[in-house]
Amino acid sequence: MLEHGGKLRWAAKRYGIPLAQWLDLSTGINPVTWPVPPQPAAIWNRLPEDDDDLVEVARAYYSARSVLPVAGSQAAIMALPGLLCPGPGKRRIGILSPSYAEHAYAWQQAGHELVPLSPENIEATLPGLDGLVLVSPNNPTGHIFSKTTLLQWHENLAARGGFLLIDEAFMDATPEHSLADHSHLSNLVVLRSLGKFFGLAGARVGFVLAHHDLLEKLQEILGPWTVSGPSRYVAKAALADVDWHHENRAYLEMCGERLQGLLSHYGLAPVGGTALFQWLRHDDAIQVHDWFARQGIWLRLFEEPSSLRFGLPGTEEGWQRLEAALQDLQETFAPKEVGEAVL
Ligand SMILES: Cc1ncc(COP(=O)(O)O)c(C=O)c1O
Repeated sequence: MLEHGGKLRWAAKRYGIPLAQWLDLSTGINPVTWPVPPQPAAIWNRLPEDDDDLVEVARAYYSARSVLPVAGSQAAIMALPGLLCPGPGKRRIGILSPSYAEHAYAWQQAGHELVPLSPENIEATLPGLDGLVLVSPNNPTGHIFSKTTLLQWHENLAARGGFLLIDEAFMDATPEHSLADHSHLSNLVVLRSLGKFFGLAGARVGFVLAHHDLLEKLQEILGPWTVSGPSRYVAKAALADVDWHHENRAYLEMCGERLQGLLSHYGLAPVGGTALFQWLRHDDAIQVHDWFARQGIWLRLFEEPSSLRFGLPGTEEGWQRLEAALQDLQETFAPKEVGEAVL
């Protein structure tokens, strides 16, 4: 199993700090969850029903022709190699690096050759690839690919029977960059998640947006009732809550700017990020991560490249606590040790 943010119980044990005292900034999950209403009791008693209008509501929210609800986009990440590259042949799959590591893991497990890519060398490498897997905005770098470029790459790949897979788990704050409205094209798959923007990571709901035929095959592989009745109920209501989408977009944009400004002010200038997280490179990321953990602040550490990701505090008290820690950090370490983020 790969490392992920959010393992707060583990951190509490490791550092001997009670769970309730932690400020968890280790994920890119919105700390302010979409306000979940009480659910009809019958929902716990009945099997989930596919004709509950969740699909129609999701199609409208994403502006996509065909969507399939899945138990978090993670479920699709694991199933897609078998579906997009069936058969025994080994394919060359270009994968963004650094990025959400579950993609590389799934394709490696399926026995394919991985070609690690940076946004700059994709164009030149494309002719030798059978498939391209990108995360946009990327986690943790925040890089967003232009729609025009992605559509050109898709055309190039599809003409040779290749595919483009785009993971848009962090796209909801910037929907204008989404490829969802093109996701009906053959050999193109777009993944979306309710875990990040809606703060509903525990509900385990995501969507695969793709050509209808591909979604039918995926549904067959995943089997019936993959998303629970209560999760379908909550997902449908959250996706239909247009006023909340607008308010939340403005709120998260403000939070992202605030976090970026705060970290920069205390010498930890991010090199990338989204409304939901900021990412900075630091030669001593392990030590800085450990220092924050001793203050009860849990960050996401990346060892390769040596870097840290900060998520959003969910309360004003949390913001104040982060600022106080950043101030202490500057005073505790000599400026040349900490305070010079590597650009
Ligand atoms: C880029 C990206 N994609 C997909 C996922 C999986 O999200 P979920 O399975 O909750 O939809 C994550 C989780 O951190 C992620 O960062």
